[in-house]
Amino acid sequence: MTMANRTRSFNNRVCEAPYLIFLGPPGSGKGTQAEKLHKNFRLVQLSTGNLFREHISKGTELGLRVKDILAKGELVPDDLTVAMVMDRLAKPDTIMGVVFDGFPRTRDQALALQYKLEEKGKCITAVIQFRISDEQIVERLSSRRMCPKDNSTYNLKSSPPKNDEKCDLCGAPLIIREDDQPEVVRHRLAIYRQQTEPLIEFYREQDMLVEVDASRGIEEITEQMDEWMPMFIYNAN
Ligand code: AP5
Repeated sequence: MTMANRTRSFNNRVCEAPYLIFLGPPGSGKGTQAEKLHKNFRLVQLSTGNLFREHISKGTELGLRVKDILAKGELVPDDLTVAMVMDRLAKPDTIMGVVFDGFPRTRDQALALQYKLEEKGKCITAVIQFRISDEQIVERLSSRRMCPKDNSTYNLKSSPPKNDEKCDLCGAPLIIREDDQPEVVRHRLAIYRQQTEPLIEFYREQDMLVEVDASRGIEEITEQMDEWMPMFIYNAN
C-alpha cells in the first residue's frame, strides 16, 4: 500500500501524514508492531531505544554519554532525547509518516514533540496505548533475543529465530539485552509507572488515545492495527 497524495483524519484531526505514537510499558510489543507498520505501510519506525543503541555500538559521543543510563534502565535526559528525535525527524523520509516507538516518555518530551510538529504544520494522528500485565512483560522480556547488527527482535517462545539463536536476516549471533535482566526490568517498569504512564491521561484528554489489548498474539495485534490504519489514513480527494 502506498500513502502518496493522501490526507489523514482521526477524531476530526487532519494531519499531513500519519504520526502515530506507541505508548506502553517495556516488553509490551511496541517495537514488534512498529516494525510491521514500517513494512506494511512504509511508516518510519522512530525507536529512541534503537537509536540510542546504535549510538552506543558506534561509540559516538552521545553513545558514550547514555551507555550506563540504558544499562541501568534509567531514562536518558529529555534534552538529549528530544535533540536526537528532532535530528531524525529532519530527514526527508519522515514526510510519509512516522511511528514513534518509545517516545515520548515524559510530559516535557510530549510537549516538545507536539510543539515541533505543529511548527512544521504536522500533528499527532493518534496514540496507541499497549495494555498488558506485568507478569506477561517479565515472561516476554526473559525470552527476548536481539540482533546486535540490525536490531531485529526475536522471542525464544513466541517468535524464535529459524537458526539456533542466530539472526534470520544477517546470521549474527543473537544477544540478550543488558537491560532485560530481571532486576533492571523491574526498575524500568517502575520508571514507566512514574514518568510515562501519566501521558495516558495527557493524551486521553486530547481525545487522541486508542487502546490495544497487547496480551494477545503478535499476528492478532497486527491484524487489528491493519484494520485501524484506514482510520488514520484516508483519501480526501
Ligand atoms: P527501548 O528499547 O524503547 O525499550 P522499552 O520501551 O523498554 O521497550 P522494549 O524494547 O523493552 O519493548 P517493546 O514494547 O518494544 O517490546 P518488543 O516488541 O521488543 O528503550 C531502552 C532504553 O533506552 C530505555 O530504558 C531508556 O534508557 C532509553 N530510552 C528510550 N527511549 C527513551 C526516551 N523517550 N526517553 C528517555 N530514555 C529513553 O517485544 C518484547 C518481546 O516480546 C520480544 O521478544 C518480542 O518478540 C515479544 N513479543 C512482542 N509482541 C508479542 C506478542 N504479542 N506475543 C508474544 N510475544 C511478543
